[in-house]
Amino acid sequence: MLPVWYEDYRFLIEKNIKKTLKEIFSQFEWTVLEDFKEIIFYATEWGKRFRSVLALEIYSILSGKNISQIDEKADIWKWCVAIEIMHSFSLVHDDLPAMDNDEYRRGKPTVWKKYGEYQAILIWDLLNTLSFELLSMIENWEYSKKLVKLLSSTIGLYGMIGGQIEDMYFEKDISSLDEQGLESLHNKKTGKLIQASLIGGAILAWKENFIENLQEFWKNLGLAFQIKDDILDVEGTKEETGKSVGGEEKGFVYIYWLEKSKEILATLQKKCLEEIQAFPSEKLEFIVHYVVERRG
Ligand code: IPE
Ligand code: IPE
Ligand code: MG
Ligand code: MG
Repeated sequence: MLPVWYEDYRFLIEKNIKKTLKEIFSQFEWTVLEDFKEIIFYATEWGKRFRSVLALEIYSILSGKNISQIDEKADIWKWCVAIEIMHSFSLVHDDLPAMDNDEYRRGKPTVWKKYGEYQAILIWDLLNTLSFELLSMIENWEYSKKLVKLLSSTIGLYGMIGGQIEDMYFEKDISSLDEQGLESLHNKKTGKLIQASLIGGAILAWKENFIENLQEFWKNLGLAFQIKDDILDVEGTKEETGKSVGGEEKGFVYIYWLEKSKEILATLQKKCLEEIQAFPSEKLEFIVHYVVERRG
């Protein structure tokens, strides 16, 4: 069970996602768009909201405000919505038949399975653009520019998409990847967005320099998150993970098998806990334990 504070963060993030999407769609009267509206709401529902919870917590620590003190118009909400939208839609493409060919996600049929492939392709295009549009609406021009730059480098060639390209490429022959290559792939595919969540939170709290102390933390946390994901793919249940499990061993589990992967995960957990000593926060500590011990 998740603690009350996590559910509170998640509630506020979801409220902001819905509010943002409603505002955007209320600007159009186009019946064709009605179908797409439904799909977009469907694809952005649920999810652990782990990345935006992390962004919010770092913002809260560095700005000295608890979430009840954060103004509802504060720019941090735009950042949380942008990263969650980007993340949700990366999953929509990841599930496509041409990629992982998955039929089940977040406890329900995947977008392509329920609505069709062209819909799954186009909504990502739409919402990818929307994430940047949202960041361009941040009034402080300097921060807006910084966050647009941050998100684009996180998603592009050196980040998530670069990682997805490598993931698809090596899927045919994962044995040609060594530990270092796999770590680099995971950092791009998964770690970078986790890193960006933290950096964005720090930028908006005006404490950008602080984040340099967290370089090792995000790398280890992102790697831990992906290794746990690969372990759950073998050991998890469809009910708890909300997605199809039991495929071929992936990533670290393929290279090292389960036991060794679990040892690596435990070492990463220990390192993460040490690295956040500079930011004493029970919530951050919980997030580290959650990444490693989660069942979904
Ligand atoms: C799944 O991410 C994809 C990976 C990067 C491993 P999450 O496990 O955060 O997915 P949701 O948002 O909770 O569905
Ligand atoms: C998810 O990666 C997609 C991104 C990180 C962009 P995976 O294919 O490894 O994760 P799941 O198991 O489908 O969530
Ligand atoms: Mg994939
Ligand atoms: Mg996948």
